[in-house]
Amino acid sequence: MKNRILYISITLFLALIISCKRDIGLLPVKSVPLPANACDSIRYTNSMAAIFNNVCCNCHSGPFGSGGVDLSTYPNVLAKVQDGRIKDRITNTNNPMPPFGLLPQSKVDSILCWIDKGAPQ
Ligand code: HEC
Repeated sequence: MKNRILYISITLFLALIISCKRDIGLLPVKSVPLPANACDSIRYTNSMAAIFNNVCCNCHSGPFGSGGVDLSTYPNVLAKVQDGRIKDRITNTNNPMPPFGLLPQSKVDSILCWIDKGAPQ
């Protein structure tokens, strides 16, 4: 009987340790706030242009871009940043852009960070 209690205790103890370790490993990256200078080096030219051109410009390019939106140049993107439409739509789960589903969270975060820094060119 004594051995049984000891055995159960050890098993529970090990289970506890293992589950703690797993919790640490599974901490969602999202809960770690970005450091204040996280996106200091992000510019339109060095990374944002690639996202807009690759993901958005299939539909938003030229005078007949979807919804009347042309995201193929920096001034055009800046205008949509400043009227708040890009920030809204890249985080809007009910009305997402791109329409087939929001970008991966890490991309959304870096765009938002860039916007918060004033969307530098
Ligand atoms: C598959 C085509 C497609 C892609 C890719 C796409 N869009 Fe759109 N977008 C549309 C259509 C169609 C509309 C007009 C209808 C609407 O507003 O939902 C639109 C509208 C918009 C608007 C204006 C709507 C408003 O609220 O004023 C913005 C801003 C926008 N898209 C941003 C983006 C951004 C940023 C991306 C890339 C991350 C993107 N879109 C990718 C098709 C697309």
